[in-house]
Amino acid sequence: MNKKAIGIFDSGVGGLTVLFQMLKKLPNEKFIYFGDTARVPYGSKSKETIIHFSRQDVKFLLSKNVKLIVVACNSASSNSMEVLKKEYDMPIFGVIEPTISSLSRKYRKIGIVGTYATIESKSYQKKIKARYNNNVKIYEKSCPLFVPIAEEGLVSTDITDRVIEHYLHKIKKEDIDSLILGCTHYPLFIDKLNDFFDGKVSLINPAREVTKVVVNYLREKGLENSNGNGNVEFYLSDIPRNFKSIAMNFLNKKIEHVKKIDIERY
Ligand code: DGL
Repeated sequence: MNKKAIGIFDSGVGGLTVLFQMLKKLPNEKFIYFGDTARVPYGSKSKETIIHFSRQDVKFLLSKNVKLIVVACNSASSNSMEVLKKEYDMPIFGVIEPTISSLSRKYRKIGIVGTYATIESKSYQKKIKARYNNNVKIYEKSCPLFVPIAEEGLVSTDITDRVIEHYLHKIKKEDIDSLILGCTHYPLFIDKLNDFFDGKVSLINPAREVTKVVVNYLREKGLENSNGNGNVEFYLSDIPRNFKSIAMNFLNKKIEHVKKIDIERY
């Protein structure tokens, strides 16, 4: 039993899709969520910058005395996990490895969608090839417009249909069997993507997979907070004008209190 909080960071609001899964599975835990809203997006930044930002995000969470850290952001997980694991003496979980380990051995044609930073890092691709001994076909596509569509609350409109068609019509022709939703925002598109692929493609949500791994880890190590009453402290590096309504789309729940911090101090 360990009553310390679980730290989660993301480039902004997208990581709330990971927090959403964690709150479902770990209702007694306390969470500290940090969203780097002053410097979002990470998905178009260079590897060096993403590493620099991720280090500061981790240092902030360490200052909150958390028991483990979840890197909710796919762009940060893709570009900075090795450095973070090497530099900090703390259990740190990214979204890539749990997702790869969850993939069925039956898959033969796997699609991966994400930001530029995630796709260009080839983080998913390299690990998938290793898992399947190269015996798998991989189709990748960065879909940057999904992020503003989700944040503007436009996912259920026909704008989304056109953007999905634009990005994914070639991948659809390849007859993929599975698609990794390699960006925090993309789970919001699950219904639209299911329609687009006529329900024939398994959609893999990294937010769910990292949650399962964290739940197992806490159990195995006896680190669960089994009788806490569960709550979240929200910290942001800037409070965007429409933060509360955007957050509602991602978390399905109202966020009452948010604290602003100066991430450059860390
Ligand atoms: N959170 C980011 C990710 O999962 C998406 C937004 C951004 O580009 O920062 O890659």
